[in-house]
Amino acid sequence: MRTAIRYDSSVTIAAGALLLAALPPYAGTVACLKCHGEYAGQTATHHARALRPISEIAAAFLDRPIRERNGVEFEYRRAPEGLAVTARVGNQRAAATLEWAVGSGAQAFTPVGRSGGLFFEHRISLYAGRPGLTMGHPASADSSAQAALGIPQPPETITRCFNCHATGVRGAADFAEPGVNCERCHGPGAAHAAAPATAKLLNPGRFSAPASVQICAGCHRSPEPAQRKSTKPEIEDPVSIRFQPIGLIASRCFQASGKLSCLTCHDPHANARRNDAAFYSAKCQGCHAGAPTSRCARANETNCLSCHMKSSSPVPYLRFTDHRIR
Ligand code: HEC
Ligand code: HEC
Ligand code: HEC
Ligand code: HEC
Ligand code: HEC
Ligand code: HEC
Ligand code: HEC
Repeated sequence: MRTAIRYDSSVTIAAGALLLAALPPYAGTVACLKCHGEYAGQTATHHARALRPISEIAAAFLDRPIRERNGVEFEYRRAPEGLAVTARVGNQRAAATLEWAVGSGAQAFTPVGRSGGLFFEHRISLYAGRPGLTMGHPASADSSAQAALGIPQPPETITRCFNCHATGVRGAADFAEPGVNCERCHGPGAAHAAAPATAKLLNPGRFSAPASVQICAGCHRSPEPAQRKSTKPEIEDPVSIRFQPIGLIASRCFQASGKLSCLTCHDPHANARRNDAAFYSAKCQGCHAGAPTSRCARANETNCLSCHMKSSSPVPYLRFTDHRIR
């Protein structure tokens, strides 16, 4: 099975659907941890929280009516299916139910819900706890209360969102587990859990550096580079900083070493280490022993990131690190 598991989202869904017909392919995180308890910390990472039922974070919205400057108002209250939202524009009202929080909230999360049976992305997201306009939504005053609730999304779009934010996705809001969990990266593991020695799972640690980057790139890059509206090369677009593999792959370090991968600097079972420049700079020096040399501006600096991997905010509220090492 090892080679049959591809990280292209459509193939994963197809393979998942086929296997599902034969046997329950997903064992679930709880089963994995029975034998691999040393990875229990993964369940508290932003990966594992990339999707949650909105009821888990409802408190962030309750008792907090939101009033935009243009007069659009939102009110939230608990409901059996999640969170009931009412939008008010003048004397018009529209109501819907929010069901899912997409994004861990570390930077942001966006509620996804249903209105009249159709999925929509809510107009209001929380950015590190502060309400703001969801990216890509019109800033202008909305024409109707229904439109103010958010942008309707076809099930295919919602399936794509969830396929990057959940595990074992079969369709829109239909998945084995919310969040990027064990089996999203290692593949469905019921057979392995039943017979670990014979039914092996995929271990990206055995891959070449470029192949392991592709696993992360399955989610961490623009899903549709071919559909870019701009003719500017993707790498020159400031927004590409959101997609770390694009920058890393364009780096001399990646191209010339043949060894640099996401795993050089990140533990795939943990969050990024925030504000720990010493940790990452030591990784640089692992390859650039004796660097920086005389050509590098600061021969005695211990923080390489401030010049070679700067962070920036290409869109309001969100901050990213430039993975194009230069
Ligand atoms: C019953 C115990 C058990 C369960 C349950 C279990 N594993 Fe394992 N796992 C093992 C053992 C034992 C090995 C080492 C197998 C070997 O090398 O022969 C292993 C190896 C692995 C490897 C390394 C594979 C390689 O070839 O290097 C991965 C990845 C893995 N398990 C992930 C998982 C995931 C994900 C789950 C949950 C779906 C899971 N395991 C459930 C016992 C278990
Ligand atoms: C199934 C999709 C998916 C895959 C595969 C994936 N990621 Fe992620 N990753 C995400 C999502 C979604 C987030 C954002 C979580 C959030 O909302 O905070 C994220 C966040 C991260 C973060 C930031 C965590 C933090 O500190 O806030 C790092 C680092 C990361 N991923 C590294 C990796 C690496 C390395 C790999 C490959 C081994 C990988 N990811 C594979 C979806 C994925
Ligand atoms: C191709 C995979 C992919 C798809 C499709 C996708 N996301 Fe994400 N999403 C990610 C990754 C990866 C991150 C982490 C970005 C980072 O921090 O570098 C993320 C982060 C987020 C965040 C946190 C803010 C941020 O940018 O870090 C929100 C909110 C979010 N996604 C919502 C959505 C919604 C809603 C959809 C569907 C309309 C969606 N995502 C579709 C991969 C995806
Ligand atoms: C974001 C993707 C991702 C998720 C989620 C993830 N892993 Fe991994 N896992 C990896 C990668 C990448 C490696 C290879 C790490 C390396 O060799 O540096 C790995 C390695 C492993 C190994 C083999 C370690 C070895 O000694 O070779 C086991 C076992 C494992 N993971 C179990 C789990 C379990 C259990 C979970 C859930 C609690 C989990 N993983 C969640 C990406 C992931
Ligand atoms: C896996 C090994 C590896 C790691 C880790 C690594 N590099 Fe490199 N880097 C290289 C190689 C190989 C080259 C190419 C050297 C050459 O052309 O002589 C390179 C080139 C560079 C260059 C020149 C870039 C250019 O466009 O000419 C800079 C600057 C640099 N590295 C800085 C860093 C910094 C800063 C870090 C840590 C954030 C880092 N490197 C991590 C291997 C690595
Ligand atoms: C040379 C080291 C290095 C490599 C290789 C690397 N990262 Fe990072 N990464 C960092 C640093 C440094 C940060 C910022 C940590 C902080 O917040 O202080 C970071 C942060 C992130 C974040 C959080 C959002 C952001 O942009 O700040 C994500 C997601 C991420 N990396 C994903 C990846 C993925 C995916 C790969 C492989 C394509 C990768 N990283 C390779 C050093 C690295
Ligand atoms: C104050 C900014 C600054 C800091 C801090 C810094 N660099 Fe540089 N570095 C530069 C500049 C500018 C160049 C390009 C010099 C040139 O091409 O003439 C450079 C060039 C390089 C090069 C390619 C040329 C060479 O000397 O081989 C490497 C490798 C490098 N730096 C590694 C590092 C490492 C590793 C660190 C952290 C220990 C670091 N740098 C810290 C600014 C900095």
